[in-house]
Amino acid sequence: MSSENQYRITIDENVEYLKRYAFLERACMRTLAGWLPGIPEWEAKNEFGLHIWESADAADELRARLRELRCHQPERGISSVLETLAAELDNGQNTAEIISTVYLVVKKGLLEAYRQHPETTWADFDRPTVKMIERLVLITEKQVAWAEKFLSTIEANYSGWQAWRDYVAGLMAADGGVNGHDTKADLPIRPENHDLLLPWSKCQRMPDWPIFDPNQDFEPDRKSEPEAHRLWRFKHYLNEMTAAETLGSILWMTPEMPWEYQHNVSRHLWDEIRHSQLGQVRVQQLGLNISDVPQVVQIYDVMMTLPAVDQYALLTTVIEPNGMPEKSTNREHWEEIGDEISAAAVSYDWSDENFHVRWGKKWTPVLLETYKYDESPAQIAARTEAWLLENTPVKMQQKMALDAH
Ligand SMILES: [Fe+2]
Ligand SMILES: [Fe+2]
Repeated sequence: MSSENQYRITIDENVEYLKRYAFLERACMRTLAGWLPGIPEWEAKNEFGLHIWESADAADELRARLRELRCHQPERGISSVLETLAAELDNGQNTAEIISTVYLVVKKGLLEAYRQHPETTWADFDRPTVKMIERLVLITEKQVAWAEKFLSTIEANYSGWQAWRDYVAGLMAADGGVNGHDTKADLPIRPENHDLLLPWSKCQRMPDWPIFDPNQDFEPDRKSEPEAHRLWRFKHYLNEMTAAETLGSILWMTPEMPWEYQHNVSRHLWDEIRHSQLGQVRVQQLGLNISDVPQVVQIYDVMMTLPAVDQYALLTTVIEPNGMPEKSTNREHWEEIGDEISAAAVSYDWSDENFHVRWGKKWTPVLLETYKYDESPAQIAARTEAWLLENTPVKMQQKMALDAH
């Protein structure tokens, strides 16, 4: 039971708090998605992928609770300073500025607010909020702990990031903190040289990492060279990082789309990170280091010459459906030769892909309508597939497209 005689927020104030939490979670999702291709550090890319999904899911849960509290326009009436803060998160210039603001200002602020929320609301009457917030505390704690540890390992590689962090923290303070109820500080002065770098036209890697050479990429025969084929295949899995990066830029470039789409794309993005991770696990088990595997950066870079809608239609209505038969064949093959680990990995991939294809069917028509295309889903699929056959640097994608028809 809550103690008596303590000030508790009203249900209307509770709605305003939860709206701000949801808005900030969405802002974190959005900035991390836009920046996924822009940061070179591999560990951070992998963690961002998970946290983009966790932030999207937190925003989704908060919005569901807001509906129960009869708030159906959760993004209406957000203060202009908080809107500014969300837009400014994108304007960081490097990994240290993104991590120190998204995680160590916004997420850390959210964590503090989540921890206090049960004492702030009428917990006895608002149990569904408390139950949800208790879950968000556990998730956000892990995210912040990772960021603190990771930033300490890279901060020396970047200079001057503290000034940008202080500016973003200043915006939060000028709006009365995460819940908006603290005493409001004066607006901070904006540091210079912070023009928007998004969307990234080329995805970034550590400078000493090897880059893929399309002319050196040959598919070993599955039956006669099973070990070489397997290693080749899992190297391509590792490179699904670029699919996640593509989705990060697509998500960042399509903010006009409904929330449900953004929630789905966030999950799709994390799934592609997981596919890269199943490749990472497997190539390491097979004796390679991740940093020895050439990075297929070219597929992200060439796709970014297309608008976001074309990229989404190409990925979800061409590349992903074309890739399904090969996954089933690999699964049967690996089961046949008794490689249970590889078979398990591809089984989960196959399962995820069913949803990606389903989302593609659902959202491509909405994208075409929202961005005023006069093409049908079938027309954009045919056009982008023809483009893929000409432009992809990955022979495997060409082969899958040709085999599909
Ligand atoms: Fe995938
Ligand atoms: Fe996929």
